[in-house]
Amino acid sequence: MPAFPRTRLRRNRQTDWSRRLVRENRVTVDDLIWPVFVVNGDTPRVPIPSMPGVERLSLSALVDAAGQAAELGIPALAIFPVIDPAHKTLDGAHAGDPDNLVCRAVRAVKAAVSDVGVICDVALDPFTTHGQDGLLVDGEIVNDPTLEALARQSLNQAAAGCDVIAPSDMMDGRIGFIREALDEAGYQRVQILSYAAKYASAFYGPFRDAVGSRKALGGGDKRTYQMDPANGDEALREVALDIEEGADMVMVKPGMPYLDIVRRVKEQFGLPTYAYQVSGEYSMLMGAAERGWLDGPAVMLESLLAFKRAGADGVLTYAAVDVARRLKAG
Ligand code: PBG
Repeated sequence: MPAFPRTRLRRNRQTDWSRRLVRENRVTVDDLIWPVFVVNGDTPRVPIPSMPGVERLSLSALVDAAGQAAELGIPALAIFPVIDPAHKTLDGAHAGDPDNLVCRAVRAVKAAVSDVGVICDVALDPFTTHGQDGLLVDGEIVNDPTLEALARQSLNQAAAGCDVIAPSDMMDGRIGFIREALDEAGYQRVQILSYAAKYASAFYGPFRDAVGSRKALGGGDKRTYQMDPANGDEALREVALDIEEGADMVMVKPGMPYLDIVRRVKEQFGLPTYAYQVSGEYSMLMGAAERGWLDGPAVMLESLLAFKRAGADGVLTYAAVDVARRLKAG
């Protein structure tokens, strides 16, 4: 008997047709959620130096971009406002103003584009002078008073026509509190995508540049409410609570360094689970690609595939439009 291997896994890999036939996971346009930055003023597009290829969009550029995204088949956008410092206060009250930039952006997109979901972040950081997601009292981010402010912000965004409320603040009890406020006001149809397991991560740096909260935050951090990157079991408790409180979908954030969490959440709860490929992850790939160190499109697609393999139902990625175009081109 010659000592040849009986099982040869390479057999299925010989040809393109065979590789396609045995492929377990795929990235499609339906997996993509596109986070976008909107800014006041008439300059249509302002580049963000720490996020190659990403721009802050004016309202009208946002409407154009949303139209393009919808045409490509991208299911949803997540809108992030760059708030004028003049509107920032200690208590972030502008979050509840029906004429703030987020609300105007939601109304503009909803009026112009059908068939695209609009997701809004719920957290006070774009609106506070200190850049924290909650109310700051005597050096502490106070939980329960913050819930009131978050509910006000949620109702304000729902009234503007937002489809999905996405609390990213990590206060305890906020999903239940917001769900109740939405239901009482007649917004039973508004979905909640909870940033259920959101870590106190250093990968958010470029995002904070983009929305101008890095300077506001100063030397501060968010470790008293965002999760410790060392913890995994705790993420499951966070997700369990958010489901109990009424989350329709959950998110793990950041993405690639936390694929183990994505897998555990999906396996344990089986509900729609998303991963956020955050700004720092995006910039690592694109920054290296810019220098010619990596093949940008290839590493991006491989990363998105990894999210799918880990069990994610979709990914928030700044590369959504690029990826959708490439998928379409085949
Ligand atoms: C705000 C918020 C942050 C991100 C999304 N929503 C930053 C933070 O928590 O400081 C980060 C997204 C990214 O880095 O791409 N609550």
